[in-house]
Amino acid sequence: MTNYAICFGLVLLVVTIGLKLFRRGRPVVTLPVKPITSTEELISTFDSVSPVIGFNVDAQPSHPYAPWSGGKFQMAMGIRRTQEDSWLMLDNRYREEQSLRERLLDNEKAGVLQYLDGSEDACRETLEHIVAFLTRRFPDLFFRSPKDLNYLCNGITGAVFRVVDPLEQHPLEIAARLVMEDMNLLIQGAGPDPDEHYLRASFSMAPAGWYLKDRIGWPLWQIHTPVPMWEEKLRKPVEKYFRDMKVSTPVERMNFFMQTDKTLFQQEPFAAQRAENVKIQDVQVRHERQTLRRLPQSRAILFMVRTYLTPVVELASNKASLYTLRKSIRAMPEEMAKYKGREAWGDVFEKWAERELADYEPSVEC
Ligand code: HEM
Repeated sequence: MTNYAICFGLVLLVVTIGLKLFRRGRPVVTLPVKPITSTEELISTFDSVSPVIGFNVDAQPSHPYAPWSGGKFQMAMGIRRTQEDSWLMLDNRYREEQSLRERLLDNEKAGVLQYLDGSEDACRETLEHIVAFLTRRFPDLFFRSPKDLNYLCNGITGAVFRVVDPLEQHPLEIAARLVMEDMNLLIQGAGPDPDEHYLRASFSMAPAGWYLKDRIGWPLWQIHTPVPMWEEKLRKPVEKYFRDMKVSTPVERMNFFMQTDKTLFQQEPFAAQRAENVKIQDVQVRHERQTLRRLPQSRAILFMVRTYLTPVVELASNKASLYTLRKSIRAMPEEMAKYKGREAWGDVFEKWAERELADYEPSVEC
């Protein structure tokens, strides 16, 4: 009986090790190809999204979030469930940012658009989702060409795109010319470690201090190597979250940086900002709204980022928010402050905030 148990144990051990080795040696994932062949497939999702009829994009103010809190600094994932209706948003920055996208795609394509083998299905599925959402949510602005239903009209820019096979541009390029967000696709096991998520495709018009060309193909932990405390505080929970993420629970998170000019296409790290003669009028709050969702067919994770720039002086009219922002900046540990480039804008901000908040009494201390 004991011999049987030992034999059984050994067999189990060999099978487990064999399976592990087999998974590690796997080549980059090739996902089943499911071409977009009919317009019905494109409109089959987002049935629960409420259409906004007569939406005037030029009259819609942008919605820069104020993701600062006055308490103790916390390095946390900070994610919450996102409402399906507000997955993708449009506002009065649309035309200007579309022009920037066009300029960058024309002149700096490799800087904004990268895609690697194995990401084809995920990129197509991303476009499919975006088209389905936009035509449902903003039917006056995004609609099929009456002449040929295989083409989608962007009613804001007047551009027309073929959105079924064969596509005429890369799917992420088409998607970039429809939405205001940047798009990143992460695929589990698309690299040496079967448990890790790797960045396999991206359109990034507003990188927050990083070069897409360098980081394409990297796993999540490596992308975050410049981020203080990521390894100790966030690596494990984020990786687990990614592995377990369900199609049915899209989430969002917000963050902010500060910068000393209005550059959206910011590839240089913030810590490298030049600090000479900065005026408070130059200082911008760079707010990001990030959403994450798992795509049902390719199983890729789609990480989208909308970036807003607001001159910090605009906070003069919202003292409560300014007060909390100042607290949050003061609470940053030194290494985080350095990473966020506080050396370049910190003193100018402090002096200005001191004056603005001289008579301000916070109603509830937080
Ligand atoms: C729940 C998921 C994620 C969390 C909690 C997270 C967290 C963070 C944090 C804390 C930072 C530092 C800036 C800040 O937010 O204060 C950061 C920076 C960054 N994150 Fe993430 N992140 C997540 C997902 C992703 C994904 C999917 C990508 C894929 C492209 C990504 C790319 C970056 C990049 C490129 C930076 C800038 C790194 C640099 O400064 O060079 N993040 N992230």
